Amino acid sequence: MAQTLIRYFLFVNLLFASIPCQKILTQAAIGGYWQLLQKSIGISAMHMQLLSNDRVIMFDRTDFGPSNLSLPNGKCRTDFINLLFAIKLDCTAHSVEYDVLSNTFRPLMVQTDVWCSSGALMPDGRLIQTGGFNDGERRVRIFNPCNNGACDWQEIVSGLATRRWYATNHILPDGRQIIIGGRSQFNYEFYPKDAAANVYSLPFLVETNDRNTENNLYPFVHLNVDGNLFIFANNRAILLDYANNKVVKTYPVLPGGDPRNYPSTGSSVLLPLKNIQVAYIEAEVLVCGGAPKGSFVQASQGDFVAALNTCGRIKITDPNPQWIMETMPQGRVMCDMILLPNGNVLVVNGAGAGTAGWEYGRNPVLNPVLYRPDNPIGSRFEQQNPSSIPRMYHSTAILLRDGRVLVGGSNPHAYYNFTGVLFPTELSLEAFYPQYLDAKYSNLRPKIILPNSQANLGYAQKVKVRFMVTGTLAQNMVSVTMVAPSFTTHSFSMSQRVLVLGGDNVAVYLCESTYEVEVTTPNSGNVAPSGYYLLFVAHQDIPSEGIWVHVQ
Ligand SMILES: *[C@@H]1O[C@H](CO)[C@@H](O)[C@H](O)[C@H]1NC(C)=O
Ligand SMILES: *[C@@H]1O[C@H](CO)[C@@H](O)[C@H](O)[C@H]1NC(C)=O
Repeated sequence: MAQTLIRYFLFVNLLFASIPCQKILTQAAIGGYWQLLQKSIGISAMHMQLLSNDRVIMFDRTDFGPSNLSLPNGKCRTDFINLLFAIKLDCTAHSVEYDVLSNTFRPLMVQTDVWCSSGALMPDGRLIQTGGFNDGERRVRIFNPCNNGACDWQEIVSGLATRRWYATNHILPDGRQIIIGGRSQFNYEFYPKDAAANVYSLPFLVETNDRNTENNLYPFVHLNVDGNLFIFANNRAILLDYANNKVVKTYPVLPGGDPRNYPSTGSSVLLPLKNIQVAYIEAEVLVCGGAPKGSFVQASQGDFVAALNTCGRIKITDPNPQWIMETMPQGRVMCDMILLPNGNVLVVNGAGAGTAGWEYGRNPVLNPVLYRPDNPIGSRFEQQNPSSIPRMYHSTAILLRDGRVLVGGSNPHAYYNFTGVLFPTELSLEAFYPQYLDAKYSNLRPKIILPNSQANLGYAQKVKVRFMVTGTLAQNMVSVTMVAPSFTTHSFSMSQRVLVLGGDNVAVYLCESTYEVEVTTPNSGNVAPSGYYLLFVAHQDIPSEGIWVHVQ
C-alpha cells in the first residue's frame, strides 16, 4: 500500500511537474475513474430509479419549456395549468427509460408535472411515483417495467389525499409505501390508501420547519429494524410508529444545530445492516453535509456561505443514542450518498458553497469521497478522482448492478438554459467506476454462478451462493450483500439499504476456482421489505457483478 502511494505521488509529480507541490498534495486523489456515457439524453436527470430489468427511469419537469428530446409518433401534451413557465403545447419528453446494458434511451411521456416529486419501487417491481407541482401535485404515477419498449407512465388522478411537493417516500414491510411531508404538508399518507381520510398529522414537521426557509423538506427517512421509521428533518430526528401515529423516540439535536435538509441540503444513509440473524440487530445512520443556518437567505443576497464539512453518525437502536461527529475532506451541500455493494459509502455531486434552490449553489465539488464505515474514526474518508462536470442542484446518482455509480442531472435554473449561465443545464450521463472495478482486481473479483438471476428468495431461508474466483481465495474475507435500489432525487436516495447476509461466511471449495457460501436471508420485512434486491458477493472488498433476486 505504502509503495503504491509513493509510486502514485511520483507519477503525479511527473505529470504535473510545473504545478507547485502544495497544490498537488491538496488535490491528491487516489481512486476510481469516470466515463461519459451520453453527452445528452435530451432531459436533465433530476429523478432516477433503477428497475429490476436494468433500465433506469429518469424525469425532470414538464413546466420549463421544450426539452432536447421529441416525443415519438407526433405525441404532444397540452398544458393549460402550468402557465408560469410552460408552453401550452409541448411535443417533447420530460422522462426517459435508460437501458444500462445497451447504453441507449427512449422517450417516455409524463402527463402532469413531476417536478420535485418522490417515489419507491413496489414489491412487484413497479415504480410508484407520487406528487409534483400544480397539475401533478396529487397524482400517483405507475411505471410497470417491460423489456419491449412498449411501456409508459400511467397516471391516477387524485391518487394522493393531499398535495405532495418535496416529500419523501419509503417502502414499508407490509408492501405499501409511505409518503411523508412535502411543502406545507405536516403529515403523511400511504399508497395504496388504507382509509378514506388517509392523512396522519406529524407535528415534528412543524417543529423542524424554519420560518421562511423550511430546511426540513425531503426529510431523510430510514426503516429501522424494529419496523419504525427514523425520520431526520432539519437538525434532529424521531423514531415514528407510523401505524399508531406515535413518536416512540426522540433523538438529540445533531451537534452544531445546523440544518441538513432542503434547501440546506445534505444527505443521509442507513449504514449496512450486519449480523441480521441476531435478536437485537444494530442500526446506524450517517448524515453528511448541508449548509449552515442562514445560508439560504445569504445566498439570496449573493453571499455564498461555505457548506458544512461535518457528518453525524448515530446508533439509532441504542437505548441512549448519541451523535458522533466526523469531518469530511471538504464541505459539501447537495451531496448524494450511495451505498456500495461492499458496504462503503460514496459521497458524490454537490457544491462547496451556497444552498439548493435556483442559482444558489457555488464551487462545484468534483471529487467523490469514499467513506469506509468500519475503519477507525479519523481514517474513514478517502478522496476519489474528480469528474469534469459540475453536478449542482437537481443532480442525481444511483448504484448500477455492475457496481458502477450512474450520475446525471444538474439544473439550477428555472428553464433549460445552455448558454450564458454559470452552470448550464446538464443533459449528460456519466458513470463513476469505484476503485474496486479496476482491472488489477479481476483475479479477486467473484463471479456469481448460483442463484440464477431473478431467483425468488423467502424470508429466513438458507441459500447457497456459488461463485468463482480465479485468484487465491481468502476464505474469511467473503461476504454476501443485498442492496435495495433507491429512488433518488434532491440528494437523497429513498428506500436505499444494504444487508450483509450471514454471520461467518466460510466459503467451501467445490472444484477448480468455484466456491460456495451458505447464507440466511433476512428474517422479516422490517429488515428487508419485500421487493427486488441486487445480490453481490464481495471478496476482499471487491464485489462481483450483482444479480437480481426477488425477496417475498
Ligand atoms: C439542446 O437544444 C438546444 C436548442 O436546439 C441547443 O442549443 C443545445 O445545445 C442542446 N443542448 C444539448 C446539451 O444538446
Ligand atoms: C433561462 O432561459 C430563459 C429563456 O429560455 C430566460 O428567460 C432566463 O432568463 C434564463 N435564465 C437565466 C438564469 O439566464
